[in-house]
Amino acid sequence: MRNMEKLEFKKIFPGVWRAGVDFQYPGYNYGGLLERAGVKPFQEGFDKQAETPFPFAEAPRAKQAGGKILFMFPFGGQERLYGLGLVYERLEQTLQVRHLRCDHYGGKDNGRTHVPAPFYVSDAGYGVFIDSASVISFYMGGSVRKDAKNPPPEKNRGRDADWQSAQRSEYVEVSLDGGRADVYIFGGASMADVVSRFNLLSGGGCLPPKWGLGMWQRVNIKYSAEEVKQDAAEFAKRGVPLSVIGLEPGWQSNSYPCTHEWDAERFPDPKEFLREMSGMGVRINLWENLYVSKSAKIYEKLKPYSGTHTVWGGVAPDLCLPEARNLMMDQHRRDHVAYGVSGYKIDECDGFDSWLWPDHAEFPSGVAGVEMRQVYAALFARALDGLYRSTNRRTYGLIRAANAGMSSFPYCIYNDCYDFRQYMTGLASTGFTGALWCPEIRGVKSAEEYVRRFQIGCVSPMLMINSWAERVTPWSFPEVENIIRDVIKLRELLLPYLYTAFADYRFGGLPPFRALCMDFSGASATSQAGVLDSTDNPYALGKMAEIVDQYMAGRSLMVAPVFTGNTRRDVFLPEGEWYDFYSGEALGGGKTISIDCPLEKLPLFVRGGEKGGVIPTMVDGTVSVLCYGEKGSGSFYDDDGLTYDFESGTYYRAALSFVKKGGAVEGTVTVEHDGYRPVPFDFMPIGNGRS
Ligand code: GAL
Repeated sequence: MRNMEKLEFKKIFPGVWRAGVDFQYPGYNYGGLLERAGVKPFQEGFDKQAETPFPFAEAPRAKQAGGKILFMFPFGGQERLYGLGLVYERLEQTLQVRHLRCDHYGGKDNGRTHVPAPFYVSDAGYGVFIDSASVISFYMGGSVRKDAKNPPPEKNRGRDADWQSAQRSEYVEVSLDGGRADVYIFGGASMADVVSRFNLLSGGGCLPPKWGLGMWQRVNIKYSAEEVKQDAAEFAKRGVPLSVIGLEPGWQSNSYPCTHEWDAERFPDPKEFLREMSGMGVRINLWENLYVSKSAKIYEKLKPYSGTHTVWGGVAPDLCLPEARNLMMDQHRRDHVAYGVSGYKIDECDGFDSWLWPDHAEFPSGVAGVEMRQVYAALFARALDGLYRSTNRRTYGLIRAANAGMSSFPYCIYNDCYDFRQYMTGLASTGFTGALWCPEIRGVKSAEEYVRRFQIGCVSPMLMINSWAERVTPWSFPEVENIIRDVIKLRELLLPYLYTAFADYRFGGLPPFRALCMDFSGASATSQAGVLDSTDNPYALGKMAEIVDQYMAGRSLMVAPVFTGNTRRDVFLPEGEWYDFYSGEALGGGKTISIDCPLEKLPLFVRGGEKGGVIPTMVDGTVSVLCYGEKGSGSFYDDDGLTYDFESGTYYRAALSFVKKGGAVEGTVTVEHDGYRPVPFDFMPIGNGRS
């Protein structure tokens, strides 16, 4: 055991500091998450970041303790902590204990999650990232040491009404296996600012192709090429926009384990199928998992470059080895991407103890099974990134796992749970962690629920029906088909606004979808005292009342989805100016209002004021800038929506501002970057009689 050491932090970017520990360790040393993802910080984004002071007055420390590396980060006052990956039950992580491990969600937030990102952020204006692919334990301010300078006062449960089982300590303690790890500290004026720097460290956010933000339909597992074509034709006939069709396992000649080769009966001529779909304006996305069947053509060559254990009988490629990656990517290029396949849904890379390899599995690269599980998604997303970049075509897809360092990879997380509230918490929580969440739409019990689910998808990273097990289409409930069509059209209308939000993610790291408390400190949780019950709540644990049924999309839109069965709901309007998106009605701010929720309407609110009130929409090739309030500002980003040319400057960005005079609006467009063709603008006052 070594003595406690003060960590020596070195500034590497404005508001970002790094320190490494390297203790002598006889056991297995884990790789870093950034290294496994192969990403580089986005320097251009950091050039625009302001300097901030180092956030800790007392230096964070490290030592070897209990056979582990232990980090201690000062924690104090009333600060609130968020992050630690994808969560579904509560956003705030203060006083929680999490053992972060990549896994399928098992119904409880306990650290086993699809995105076990070891990054947390405090509302006091700092963030902490432990760059190690180990299983990391976070004790979020509740582990009190006997030599604490200011220990919480001892109480008597038999007499004191304010006795509590959870106690606040002076440190967040973090422990992990191995002898080496890098620690990053981020500063910033707000949580959004801190998280943006974390994303810039991972290369910035992803910018999906424009088609990725359209309507997605995943079809039944047993669909053939003919059935896919029929569905696409039906969309067109009914005037329902459609951008992507996703094929589920049955497109392959074998799945679970996979061949990644087309099923000759269902898809006899994949090249022609892809050509026809492209003619209909529809892209194809392929489901797959990474466990390779004996009947795959690459099996024999791949076998030596795979792990010691099989998954559903297939081999697990060692994605740390170029040989395995190249075999997989060459096959994907030849059999899919060359025909025009637009991307993948990478399933089951999250693990599940009963079918994945065990922790002691070995891979020929020397990477241990336990680490491989933490980074398997990153390794594959990285390989696909290389493949799509080599074609200069962007991709967008789904992945069932991610980790820190993956914000620049264009994938949405999903899982098999279907609870509406958990979906909203998931959506907001991914904003803290450099990931995106897809609130997919599946089989539902009523037309009302169907509409409500579509509405949350409408303002999310991906609007998608996942009909892999059932046969669900936008017209499954004829009585609401028109409403659903309008929801999809609303998403199309908002495309310029959403695309600009993604550009802010790509270039500045700002998450496009964020929990309200990330932007507004008044929107944090309040604790409710717990009610003692000898069976259900023996430690009288309190509950959190936090706002998860409202979230920010882009800089100026606030979404307040409605639960099935509700016809009214409360909406918290943070301090400032707020407007109803549809009517432009000024609603004020710093209060909670109660609103009617007719089925056909997704409650949307526009943040006004000098730095808001501007929503660029697309109407017949013209950017129609919706203007709320008396004056406001915003921005508009555009590029070809397809290629990576934007990375070398082929894009257009303009600052937009307006003032209203009487009923008219005066708009100003200030071009900031003119590397791509400009589009015509039309400034439209919303409210004042027009909507
Ligand atoms: C599940 C996945 C579903 C669907 C299914 C196909 O694991 O979450 O969305 O793709 O596999 O077998």
